[in-house]
Amino acid sequence: MAPSYALERLQDLEPTAAQFRSAVLDGLAQRQKRLPCKFFYDAEGSRLFDAICDLPEYYPTRTECRILEVRARDIADLLGRRVRLVEFGSGAGYKVRLLLRTLSEPAAYVPVDISRSQLLSAATSLARDFPALHIAPMCADYTQPFSLPNSTQKVALATAGFFPGSTIGNFNPEQAWAFLAQARRLLGRGAWMIVGVDVHKDSAVLNAAYNDAAGVTAAFNLNLLRRINRELDGTFDLEAFRHRAFYNEAERRIEMHLISLRDQSVDVGDEAFTFAAGETIHTEDSYKYAIGDFQRLAAGAGFEPVAAWTDPDRLFAIHMLRAS
Ligand code: AVJ
Repeated sequence: MAPSYALERLQDLEPTAAQFRSAVLDGLAQRQKRLPCKFFYDAEGSRLFDAICDLPEYYPTRTECRILEVRARDIADLLGRRVRLVEFGSGAGYKVRLLLRTLSEPAAYVPVDISRSQLLSAATSLARDFPALHIAPMCADYTQPFSLPNSTQKVALATAGFFPGSTIGNFNPEQAWAFLAQARRLLGRGAWMIVGVDVHKDSAVLNAAYNDAAGVTAAFNLNLLRRINRELDGTFDLEAFRHRAFYNEAERRIEMHLISLRDQSVDVGDEAFTFAAGETIHTEDSYKYAIGDFQRLAAGAGFEPVAAWTDPDRLFAIHMLRAS
């Protein structure tokens, strides 16, 4: 018998071990050593990130969810009936529920995420809770081009992209522009785009959010080294590196680094890398935008700003855009 819900088989474009290896070897060979933040999200990294979202200092998640709750009606009114939602970086799939429960007869949902285990469990649980929704999960790095499954087009009257969490802040402004331009091509003319963006603010609030007292963000950062040790035959001593995060005011970004506590050499497979005491690996940027600055960036990529909703403290913004 056919299942009572429409969950398609997962499309798998997950980065391979070889892609992970070459990104790591490349990044560690640079003068300022770097590791791409997308590789944070193995099973343990995804779990740690979910724990970050519950931290008292980490305001973005709860603030964004609150804005989505308050504005769900407005969003539903703009999107209309039978929308197809495409979510970039769907994670645990919690935020999209805030929309789905208010949208009028949502037709299809395409969650795109780099973490296959989390994607599968989130999609399965959504399929149970929204039996009329056609779900087509896609395991992919959404910075790479991909196309939407045809099956989701037939059932929908409109298309909306959903990019919450200020994940767009992981890109520098030029990359963010390129991402938006690519999303516009993917979603098509007239499509909506809902983007959650952390707002530039006082650095004390930001520094606390990325240096939590419980040390969860530090564990999340260091887990990347553990992953390299496990998957790429690395020899990082996790006791010999420490988490460092700070707001770079001039660039309007949080920078996360792992700082080497001593002179040391580390192997990744057959390759050796030396670290001086105090040298860092730059692991993540998290850019923050004033409302108008983000609207100008989006407009340059072909998205007309329709609305920008914030919380009373103006900590976070939900931008409603439309592909012109
Ligand atoms: C998932 C990229 C939005 O930048 O705030 C949280 C990741 N890193 N704490 C962010 C993160 C450290 C998060 N994003």
